Formats: sequence, structure tokens, C-alpha cells
Amino acid sequence: MSSFPCDPNDEGRLALDSASFREAMSRIAAAVHVVTTDGPGGRMGATVSAACSVSDDPPSLLVCLNRETRIHDAVLKNRCFCLNTLSDDHETISDVFAGREKLDMPGRFAKGEWTPMATGCPALDTARLNVDCEVYSVTEIGTHSIIVGTVADLRMTSPGKSLLYVRRGYKSLDT
Ligand SMILES: Cc1cc2nc3c(=O)[nH]c(=O)nc-3n(C[C@H](O)[C@H](O)[C@H](O)COP(=O)(O)O)c2cc1C
Repeated sequence: MSSFPCDPNDEGRLALDSASFREAMSRIAAAVHVVTTDGPGGRMGATVSAACSVSDDPPSLLVCLNRETRIHDAVLKNRCFCLNTLSDDHETISDVFAGREKLDMPGRFAKGEWTPMATGCPALDTARLNVDCEVYSVTEIGTHSIIVGTVADLRMTSPGKSLLYVRRGYKSLDT
């Protein structure tokens, strides 16, 4: 029997390497979003789960983007992004914007209907939530940038079902 909280002989305890860390993080259920941008840096989008609110004063949120993604440099150049929170019938859009169907950016955007918000970033019309942001700060850590945005525009739909991602698969949640 293992003792609480942390027994080195517990078989459930894994050495801290990046594979173990990824496995641990895969067990956290997370909302799925498509982050978009538009402007001089181009019109781009990518699926993200690393996004959360920061403060309500000023209204602000953060997204963590791998610097190798095409959208990363475009967001920094455009100085804006829109977080589009997906519903449970958006699995295909999530896969497409995660690069799983090998489509170029126009091909990705052709999978949905989009309307520009205050900053000009594309909002997915059928998303649960569109949060349009101006870039406030960028902090690099390892392979990623933590990008904080202040909210310029917001759109919400009535209650429905949200798309979650946990243990490398999709789930649906009434929200
Ligand atoms: C459910 C899910 C969540 C993801 N979350 C993130 C994320 O938070 N940050 C990130 O940089 N990439 C994330 N990705 C990977 C990007 O979607 C993917 O690398 C990107 O679209 C491919 O880069 P490209 O647009 O340059 O082809 C996620 C992928 C999936 C399927």
C-alpha cells in the first residue's frame, strides 16, 4: 500500500521526463478552441487547448502557442487574435486546424463560416464563444510563447454542448 502523498516505490509514480509530463497533462480535460488571426502577418488559425482567462480588470486571457506553428509569428505581427471555443459538433474543425488533414490555411477556413470581429480577426459563426483580443504581452518559455491578450470584442451563444479533449480523445459536455 502506498503512503500519501508521494511514495517513491509507488508504481503509479513516473520519472519526470517529457513523455511522462505529456501523459500527465493528457489527463486534464480541456476545452478546445481555434485561435485565429488576420492582418499584415496573414490569415491563420490553429487548434489550441492551452487557453484560459487571466483577469476581468482588464478583461484578458492567455493562449500558449508553439513557436513552430505558422500562426505564432502571424499573431505577433498582427498584434491580435480571436479565441473561438468549439462545440461538440466541431471535431472536424478541430482536426483540420490541428493540421491533421494537411490542408493549407484557405482550405482550413473553408470548413466553417467566419465573420471579422473588432480587430479584424475571423470569428467562427457557430462557435460557443468568440473572444477577440489585442496582444498585450508575449513571454517565451521553452518551445512556446504565452501570449496575453486584452479583450476588444466578445460574442456568446446560448447554453449548449462544448467540445473537450482528454486522454487524446474528444468528449462532449453540457455547458
Ligand atoms: C486538441 C488539441 C489541442 C492543441 N493545443 C495546442 C496548444 O494549446 N498550443 C499549441 O501551440 N498547439 C496546440 N495543438 C497543436 C496545434 O493545433 C498544431 O500544432 C497546429 O495547428 C499545427 O501547426 P500549423 O498550423 O503550423 O500547421 C493542439 C492540437 C490539438 C488536436
